[in-house]
Formats: sequence, C-alpha cells, structure tokens
Amino acid sequence: MRSVVPTAEVPWWQTAVVYQVYIRSFADGSEDGIGDIAGLRSRLPYLASLGVDAVWINPWYPSPMADAGYDVADYRDIEPAYGTLADATALIADAHAAGIRVLLDIVPNHTSDQHAWFRAALADEPGARQRYLFRPGRGPGGVEPPNNWQSVFGGPAWTRVADGSWYLHLFAPGQPDLNWDHPEVRAEFEDILAFWFDRGVDGFRIDVAHGLVKAAGLPDADESVGAAQSLVEDRAGHPAWDQEGVHEIYRGWRAVADRYTPERIFIAEAWVDGSERLARYLRPDELHTAFQFDFLRSPWRAKVLRTVIDDAIKGAASVGAPPTWVLSNHDVTRTVTRFARSQPGHLVGTDWERGRWADEDPDHELGRRRARAAALVQLALPGTAYVYQGEELALEEVEDLPDEVRQDPTWAQSGFTDVGRDGCRIPLPWTETDAPYGFSSRPGVVTWLPQPAHWGRHSVQAQERDPDSTLNLYRRALQLRPAVWRDAGPVQWLDVAADVAAFRRAGTQCWVNTGDRAVALPAGAAVLLASTAGVRDELPPDAAAWLKVE
Ligand code: NOJ
Repeated sequence: MRSVVPTAEVPWWQTAVVYQVYIRSFADGSEDGIGDIAGLRSRLPYLASLGVDAVWINPWYPSPMADAGYDVADYRDIEPAYGTLADATALIADAHAAGIRVLLDIVPNHTSDQHAWFRAALADEPGARQRYLFRPGRGPGGVEPPNNWQSVFGGPAWTRVADGSWYLHLFAPGQPDLNWDHPEVRAEFEDILAFWFDRGVDGFRIDVAHGLVKAAGLPDADESVGAAQSLVEDRAGHPAWDQEGVHEIYRGWRAVADRYTPERIFIAEAWVDGSERLARYLRPDELHTAFQFDFLRSPWRAKVLRTVIDDAIKGAASVGAPPTWVLSNHDVTRTVTRFARSQPGHLVGTDWERGRWADEDPDHELGRRRARAAALVQLALPGTAYVYQGEELALEEVEDLPDEVRQDPTWAQSGFTDVGRDGCRIPLPWTETDAPYGFSSRPGVVTWLPQPAHWGRHSVQAQERDPDSTLNLYRRALQLRPAVWRDAGPVQWLDVAADVAAFRRAGTQCWVNTGDRAVALPAGAAVLLASTAGVRDELPPDAAAWLKVE
C-alpha cells in the first residue's frame, strides 16, 4: 500500500495527478440514484488502481441544489443525500490509507440563499445585509437593477427582494454574492478552512477564485467588455472579476494552510485574461496552483497547443509555481466531443465549448482518438494534471438529453437557449449490464440524470477486459509517468512539421500529430506508450506517443 508521507524532495502537489470526483455522478452507495460518499468509498480501490495521487471532490455540503451544490447552506456539514460528517471523516481516512490525498471544493464567492446569513439578511436582522451586496435600484422607484452586470448563467446579476432593494448574484439567484470587505466574512472562511484541515483534508479547490472582490462602487461594466456571461470567456476589465483585492484574501488563507503539517494546498479556479494575470494568484505567499484553462480551450491544432503550453509554463515559472493542466471538468464539454467536430484555429469560447456547432454531427470515434492523444500530452508535461471522472473512460458529452430532465440552472436562466452543463455530468457506467450500469447496485434505479442506452459499452467493466481501452491507456500512462516524466526537466521543442508538436524532456520525447498524414518518428526511437495501437516508425494522424530516444 502506498503512503501519504512525502518521500521525494519535490512536494507531492507539484507533480500530482488529481482525479476530479463529481460526487453526484461518481457512484451511488445508498441506491437512490444520486452519487454519495458511500459510493466513493467503495470505489477507492478503483482510484488506487488507476494510480492517481489525490482526489478533488466537488462540493458535498448541505445545499438546496440551485447549482448542483455550489450553493452552500452550511460549510461545516455534509449534504444528507451524500452522507454524514462521520462518513466524510471515514472517507478521508480510507483515502489516506490507500495513498490518495483529498482536496475539497470551497465556495467563497457566494452562499446559498438558504444559508443562515442570507436568511438573516432577508429578515433584515441588524447588520445581516452587510455580509452580502444589497443595493438600491436605479430609475424611478428603483425598479432597474443597480448596475448592468449579467449573471454568468444569463439574465441580470441582481434580484429584487420584498422591500424593493436588490442583491447581487453573479450566478443563480439562489447564490447571493458575499461582501468580502466585511471582516466577519473573512474570519468565517478562514475558520471553515481550519475546520476541514483539522479533519485531515489536504487542500481546497477554490471556486471562482477571481470573483470575490468587486470594483469599489460596483460600477457599470464597459459595454465593450461584453456581458461577461460565460465562465470561459475572457473578462479583462470587467469590474466583477480579477480585482487586486482578492490577493490579500489568499495571503490570509495561505497563512492558515501553513500552520499545518503535512502541507495543505490550494488550487484556484480563476478564469482570468492570460498566464500573467493567473501567475499573480501563484506568488509565493498566495496559492500553490491554478488551473491552466487555455489548455482546455485549445482546439486540436499543434500550433495552438504549443503556444498555450509555452505560455502556461512561462507564466507559472515566473513565480516559481508548477503549471496545472486540465483537459475538461464539470463545466465544459467533454474532451471527446470537443475534438469530435471541425476545429477552429484559435482558443475557443462558450458556444464552441458547449458543443453547439451548427449542423455538424460529432464523430465520437475521431474525438476519442484525439482525446486519448491529448491525455498523453497532458501527462507528459511538467507540473500537475487533473483528470475529470470519465475522461479515463473516454466518455462523450451527452448532447441529446430531453429538455424536461435538464438540471443546470443555465437552461432556465438563459431563457431555454443554452443547454448548459448536464451533458458532461451523467452518472458513470461501471458495469456492462442495463441502466444504471453499476452506478448504483439497485437494478432499475432512476439516476438523477439519465444515462444513454450505449453507456455500458464504455463501462469500467468493459474497458478492463480490453487491453487497448482508454482506461488501460490511462493506467499505463500513470504507471509510467513518475519514472519517465516526473524529474525529467524542462520542455524542449523539437523542430517538426507544422501539424505536429513534439518535445523532449531529458531522454524521453512526446509526439502528437494533429494533421491528416502520418509522420515519421525518429530513427531508433523505442515507443514506450502510444495512444493508438501499432505505432512503430510512424505516428498516424490524431495520435500521440511517448518515445525513448538514445
Ligand atoms: C464554478 C463551478 O465550477 C461551477 O460549476 C459553478 O456553477 C460556478 N463556479 C458557481 O459556483
């Protein structure tokens, strides 16, 4: 059994592979069709056999689920549908015993509208409204919102309450934004961090880390900045995002984490404008890591990939931090589907991201080949890598969910024009049987989102039997990665054809072919691992390989 005691000189989090557990859809131990802690505990052996170093668990706190748990009603407890606090501490202990560290998701930008603080605010208890961003409306009678900000999910970012004042919510109305100028808000979150650190949690993914502080006076956004209505679009210059004041908050958080041994760490979700802005979150007294989202927004084009990789490494290195690579998560179209249609020549925005290409049928097999190749690139790079559950099974986005089952608030808030993120959150298939495909042990249970009829084909059980499956590719890659890449040094690009990206790190090379013709591999190279079968002297289109070159 592996151990969580650090053994190398390089701290674990600088080279880790972290598996993202979207708990609602991972495994259901209570047989109600919703994933939970019992399900996750029962599948820890699977995660250990995959070879991941840590898990990041999406929010598991009590929540009315206005936004799948990102509306937290109590930060120090567990959502009853997922289990109890005792289950959570047992899970942390089991994970540690299996050599897997545990990262939680902290949601500091907003609470649920059912949080005790917001209920007190609505009841107009003395001082309670100051913890949120309540403002009078504009225009005669104050009937217009206080400014022109739009919610990320669509529609105005303001909702009016009974007495006529408005509160800010950058996301759903059930997610009121906190006022981070208020000392109680600051103290409360430092205390919540300590609450979970005391229970052995190894770190936190910080939700919308770039959103907590808003420009003073909440000024209108410049129309030229756009509605800022998407998580993945750049919002440079918008007064709601990436304000200087957030950094002081993270310096305080870092001081809390640094009180603990072994080391506790942070990973920021910050959709900011470019690697230089991102690096500001990673200064030595702030956060340890931050997702590199340009990697996830890169189309299947060698040239774009090269630029994004260089830029990310440079940005992180400027502050001595490791880069953090991510191909997808619970907010974006699954990688297989992102790569299953024609590819633009530049980083992508929301429309493209959600797979809404007009009139183009996805070619999932093509997308699958590319996703497997992209995984080998991701896992060959220096720094840390996040794997979103189901990537190791090469699951595609489920794009044909019936409208009546959709749960993402984006669907209603966009006036039923944006289908939102349900398609990448479908419960995992574990067995080849009928639905729920081993997600729950009770046959016929109705899962919180329906699984497609072919889900069993992609199941863990089916892929374990097939030596060429994506699951076995990931297992092999994660097994090789520590010896081959962990201490391999910097990326050095090789001079290759324009449609190909190839880099060397010490004696190992990683090649990826995004073009439509096979390319010759270096003479005498030994193929350590390839994303497609039969690679020897040539690398076919839509494939990647790791090579040992003397
Ligand atoms: C980012 C999370 O990843 C997303 O799922 C959520 O909707 C928003 N933050 C709001 O908390």
